[in-house]
Amino acid sequence: MELKVRLKQKADYSYSIVLGKNLFKKIAADLKNKPIANKYVIITDSNVKNIYGIDLLKTLRANNIEAQLIYFKAGEQSKNSKIKEQIENEMFKLLLGRDSAILALGGGVTGDLAGFIASTFLRGIPYIQIPTTLLAMVDSSIGGKTGINTGYGKNLIGTFYQPKKVYIDINMLSTLPESEFLNGLAEVIKHSIIKDKPLFKYLEKNREKILKKDKKALQYIIKISCEIKSSIVEKDETESNYRRILNFGHTFGHAIEKTSNYQVKHGFAVAQGMIYAAKLSKTNEKTKERIIKLIESYGLIKNIKLDKKMILHAMLQDKKTIKGKVNFVLINEIGKPYITNKIKTQQIEAVL
Ligand SMILES: NC(=O)c1ccc[n+]([C@@H]2O[C@H](COP(=O)([O-])OP(=O)(O)OC[C@H]3O[C@@H](n4cnc5c(N)ncnc54)[C@H](O)[C@@H]3O)[C@@H](O)[C@H]2O)c1
Repeated sequence: MELKVRLKQKADYSYSIVLGKNLFKKIAADLKNKPIANKYVIITDSNVKNIYGIDLLKTLRANNIEAQLIYFKAGEQSKNSKIKEQIENEMFKLLLGRDSAILALGGGVTGDLAGFIASTFLRGIPYIQIPTTLLAMVDSSIGGKTGINTGYGKNLIGTFYQPKKVYIDINMLSTLPESEFLNGLAEVIKHSIIKDKPLFKYLEKNREKILKKDKKALQYIIKISCEIKSSIVEKDETESNYRRILNFGHTFGHAIEKTSNYQVKHGFAVAQGMIYAAKLSKTNEKTKERIIKLIESYGLIKNIKLDKKMILHAMLQDKKTIKGKVNFVLINEIGKPYITNKIKTQQIEAVL
């Protein structure tokens, strides 16, 4: 005997990204006018709590919104199942139920962790992303990838779970340490290389303004980056194929991060990885030179001693490597990516 469970539900998970300055009052007004829950919990890390968390909590409460705050020790090492469970237990103690929602206030670590909690807490409650690092603004807060690290590797446990809204407050970048800012810029550069030649040219021409955190320039590059990321996610929400173009520079990048025992930060590893990927690409020499020059001009290349063999080994172990074939995102020209698994080991060794 065979019975069928018919599931035709196809909900609309669309959401908007609000980009502006000093947004806490707007967030409170929006939640007041169009609540997504009865109670809210801000999840943040120990740094962001002091800089912005308490302020957001006060603003919500001043608007008669029932809100709590839970924080964890800042840093990648908190993105694990132990901290997830601790936060969930705190949420139970605060009697947060299915009528609650999470406000993920922080960088990518907070967004990934809080988003993952939202997707599993009581089988799923809504959440809003309030990214505070450049990386989270242009990348991790959009697209609904949530998750945690395990002893076996990064981001191995997680879900696709879209936020209800994203609020990007560019004024928050004023307190961000320089290296964290550069870390996010690597992803902006990546977006330009895979999808947007005008953005690439803008990054070439406006380096000084961007590095000085000129508000107009930041607003522009963040807006375009968010448009690129969301347009890719719209076409392939669960990374079955097209979304993989976002991994430009990442196959090498992840291997560099791993080989350096995570001493090289993600953005810097991806920056180096983008140079290797450009060198492997079919694109012409002039374009390769432009890419290398741009990445170097933003101070993203550190003189790190890299062990070629270990990088190759790490690439073969990557979760996206299938049957020993490493998948690479390369470019025909700026804005025109392609995916291939036909690169030979000797070619990889030659660019390292
Ligand atoms: N979900 C996705 O699609 C996706 C995409 C890319 C990266 N990620 C994940 O993102 C994580 C990295 O995110 P990250 O680089 O934002 O790191 P992070 O969240 O650890 O933030 C970096 C540091 O900056 C501090 N900070 C954050 N905002 C600040 C501000 N405005 N002022 C001062 N200090 C501030 C934090 O406390 C932290 O110490 C990784 O775990 C990575 O796997 C996820």
